[in-house]
Amino acid sequence: MKKAVIYRSRNGSTRRYAEWLAQECGADLFDLGQAQDPDLAPYEAVIYGAPFHMGHLYGARYIRDRWAVLQRKRVFIFSTSAVPPTHALAAAIYRRSLPEPIRRQVRYFPVRGQYFRGKLGRLDYAKTILARLIGVYDIIVHHDSLLFLGIATDQPLSHHHDLSALIKEIRDEEKATPWV
Ligand SMILES: Cc1cc2nc3c(=O)[nH]c(=O)nc-3n(C[C@H](O)[C@H](O)[C@H](O)COP(=O)(O)O)c2cc1C
Repeated sequence: MKKAVIYRSRNGSTRRYAEWLAQECGADLFDLGQAQDPDLAPYEAVIYGAPFHMGHLYGARYIRDRWAVLQRKRVFIFSTSAVPPTHALAAAIYRRSLPEPIRRQVRYFPVRGQYFRGKLGRLDYAKTILARLIGVYDIIVHHDSLLFLGIATDQPLSHHHDLSALIKEIRDEEKATPWV
């Protein structure tokens, strides 16, 4: 089963997961942020990874715009976020980012994200301040303390084993589908 891991990452933590995943599963790796727009034709499985950003799955439009092609493949999505993966808000952000007919066919795995204030790009840094000040983005404001946990610690919060469920699902799929 030929696989592509396609990702967006603003500050690196999603990239880290995407690289782990591609290595672990023997997938080709594409960074949409680097204007890589892979030809999806050779792939039977596509794994899309992106952070939650200002209340949405970053770059979800990529999935929506290519759904005519993607719907004939096995599609997995993982998100990284400040909201804990098991929290109902993670599910709510995912729901608002993709329409139901797409979600029905996609297997979705939210994983824990992080960022360090000192390493944010200027725009993202400004956004976090602004969102807190004006309270426009309920998700960020409600989870302010979690965002700041990510900022306050030097310990990496993302771990390889956070991908276990996704990797298992891909492997199970592979067992069910002979290699081509
Ligand atoms: C400007 C900004 C906005 C964010 N918005 C959200 C959000 O709406 N919900 C959430 O759960 N996390 C939010 N986060 C946290 C990121 O999703 C999390 O840090 C993620 O791991 C970042 O991935 P990246 O390092 O690949 O960019 C935000 C982070 C930044 C810097």
